[in-house]
Amino acid sequence: MKVVLGVSGGIAAYKAPELVRRLRDAGADVRVILTPNAARFVSPLSLSAVSNHGVILDQWGDSQQGGVDHIALARWAEALLIAPATANVLAKLASGIADDALTTYALAHRGALLIAPAMNTFMLQHATVQANVATLRARGADIIEPESGMLACGEEGAGRMPDVPVLVERLKAHFAAHDLEGQSILVTAGPTREPIDPVRYISNRSSGRMGYAVAEAAQRRGATVTLVSGPTSLPAPAGVTVKRVTTAAEMREAVLEALPSHGIVIKAAAVADFAPARIADRKIKKTESDEMTITLKKNPDILAEIGAADPRPFIVAFAAETNAVEMHAREKLARKNADLIVANDVSDASIGFDSEQNEVTVIARDGSATKIARAAKITVANRILDLVVSRLAQK
Ligand code: PMT
Repeated sequence: MKVVLGVSGGIAAYKAPELVRRLRDAGADVRVILTPNAARFVSPLSLSAVSNHGVILDQWGDSQQGGVDHIALARWAEALLIAPATANVLAKLASGIADDALTTYALAHRGALLIAPAMNTFMLQHATVQANVATLRARGADIIEPESGMLACGEEGAGRMPDVPVLVERLKAHFAAHDLEGQSILVTAGPTREPIDPVRYISNRSSGRMGYAVAEAAQRRGATVTLVSGPTSLPAPAGVTVKRVTTAAEMREAVLEALPSHGIVIKAAAVADFAPARIADRKIKKTESDEMTITLKKNPDILAEIGAADPRPFIVAFAAETNAVEMHAREKLARKNADLIVANDVSDASIGFDSEQNEVTVIARDGSATKIARAAKITVANRILDLVVSRLAQK
């Protein structure tokens, strides 16, 4: 992997030396370009030491080597990763301004472009920044979404650059073997919302991240992917057909409609098992009583219907459990007639629902269990897909 790492001037630049080390561990040859502001956050000397190459700081090229660096570099590089990308750099990239070594190089670059925006939440939410991100995404850049958490400025919210392993995994995905070429994969993600009245609903804490990560990883590995998604705030993964639904009944309809053209189904969605039996057509008023009863009715079990389909696709189910995780997952694997089930211990708030990471055990029909260690959801998604690929090869 021949990679140019562009570092711009945000606090997350301090992660750059570690990022270079991990990229090199993953087999990448890394050349670093620093913007003048980035050089205030991270030392060119340490980046030069960890990358084993000189660091490019000057847009006028390295006179000692002769020639114009950015053109020579563009002939060499297979990917440009800009991490962190500040609001300023995003604006320049979106409008083609080339006033430093990084933005000049970005115009000459011909390979994959990955951008990890990182900044204060208010800046990230600014309409101009969002428009610039949208422009770059529409031009084919792989935008690595910032995460939520405590920011260096002391505020809490979205804007944090994802941890180094997430960036490395994302880059590796661009070089991944197309081992799912020719496969059509239907993925479900997110929660469902079951309305009580026009303003209230029953739902759960699924963010959709796990399913979106599976869809994105499968698409990068060459599959044609349809993602049926419950309500989430996540952007559609590039190259994936997304069908947005709200209720379990709508999810069922979308899944069954898409099913005949898909050979693999991966069901990461957290479908509500029950829905209010009646939906009030007006907002329910508070009454004098301290209690209120809502009668629920069972929702259709979408997975069980897929398991009974003829021909039956290759099915990867998920099981979200809080106790006796493996035992319950094995029981669901059999009951839902799946090929693999991903057992998720959701009693641990740091994994599973609405977290950046996951840690799962994948159980197969033959009883074998494979543990996938705690990692970013994109990494877990790729490991699950590795198991799908090896099971398909055995068929
Ligand atoms: O979205 P995130 O925040 O990233 O969180 C990820 C996750 C925890 C939601 C995900 O990893 C996960 O475990 N998804 C399955 C959650 C779930 O609903 O599990 P379950 O054990 O209730 O259902 C078992 C399987 O049957 C699931 O594949 C589910 O999609 C499917 N199902 C369930 C009910 C129903 N009516 N129809 C279904 O198809």
